[in-house]
Amino acid sequence: MTEPIVVAEGLHKRFGDVHALRGLDLAVPPGAVCALLGPNGAGKTTAVRILATLARPDAGHARIAGHDVVREADRVRALIGLAGQYAAVDERLTGRENLRMFGRLHHLSRARARRRADELLERFGLADAADRVAGAYSGGMRRRLDLIASLLVAPKVLFLDEPTTGLDPRSRGEIWDAVRTLASDGTTVLLTTQYLEEADRLADDVVVIDHGRVIGQGTPDELKAALGSRIDVLLEDAGALPAASAVLARMTGADPDAPDHRRLTAPAPVDLRLADAVRELDRAGVAIADIALRRPSLDEVFLHLTGRPAREPDAAAAEGEAA
Ligand SMILES: Nc1ncnc2c1ncn2[C@@H]1O[C@H](COP(=O)(O)OP(=O)(O)OP(=O)(O)O)[C@@H](O)[C@H]1O
Ligand SMILES: [Mg+2]
Repeated sequence: MTEPIVVAEGLHKRFGDVHALRGLDLAVPPGAVCALLGPNGAGKTTAVRILATLARPDAGHARIAGHDVVREADRVRALIGLAGQYAAVDERLTGRENLRMFGRLHHLSRARARRRADELLERFGLADAADRVAGAYSGGMRRRLDLIASLLVAPKVLFLDEPTTGLDPRSRGEIWDAVRTLASDGTTVLLTTQYLEEADRLADDVVVIDHGRVIGQGTPDELKAALGSRIDVLLEDAGALPAASAVLARMTGADPDAPDHRRLTAPAPVDLRLADAVRELDRAGVAIADIALRRPSLDEVFLHLTGRPAREPDAAAAEGEAA
């Protein structure tokens, strides 16, 4: 097995009474996209800041490509890029000027910074807007600019803290494309997100964190499989509910839920076949309007792991305003 390029072992971090991380473990293989998925306050930013050498853990260790993030912080900084939760763009400068400034901060020569900035502006579709002030950019353009800034030195490991929070679907899609491009070039990406869909779309590996520790981990498929499928039935006629419920109870070994008078849903055993369910329901005289064997969404996985939804809709809306 290849050595993981990002490793965290038992990370703890307290802020006064708040225990932000309580023994966080992580291992990301080189070239992977890993999503750290968790609700507000789960400890995502704290974990990223420690891995990116911006904060020290109270206990535990972390290494990037074998280098300790505390003892060898300089070595680590040379390997990583970070695009933070709040875009660090100077609004008075143009996109191109922002990138030149970041280039100088990263000790690139003037010529090298310019070449690299032009190349990345082109590649991530910002070339046309490069000479407009960043203050006039849309949210999605700013995030892309921030992403480009974090790529000036071609990092081995890129940290993206909530790269798409508050973006509209189109801008979100653009960031997703950018992340995929990077990953296909071999960059290891560790991103944090509150969006289950984002983790599902982008990540090879999802680490679900809550209250500063890992509560679930796997590929999106593994996480869904652990929860099992469900069988959903929509009846032609509400009168058939008791009969249909009895059939499903027999086939699944569980008491089906009835979200309304025409719908039934039950956890499906792995060996349940849709064709058998259709036949049994038919034999019991139940007319079916629709029937499906449905794998759970990552939303349901999160709900199952934490006992609450991943994002409260109100919090999401409020944050969209702030971003
Ligand atoms: N500098 C700090 N001082 C005090 N408390 C902090 C500090 N940074 C983080 N915390 C607290 O630590 C906990 C974890 O915060 P963190 O920012 O890591 O969460 P997060 O998962 O990134 O949340 P969000 O989704 O809102 O960005 C929270 O309770 C937060 O209030
Ligand atoms: Mg955060």
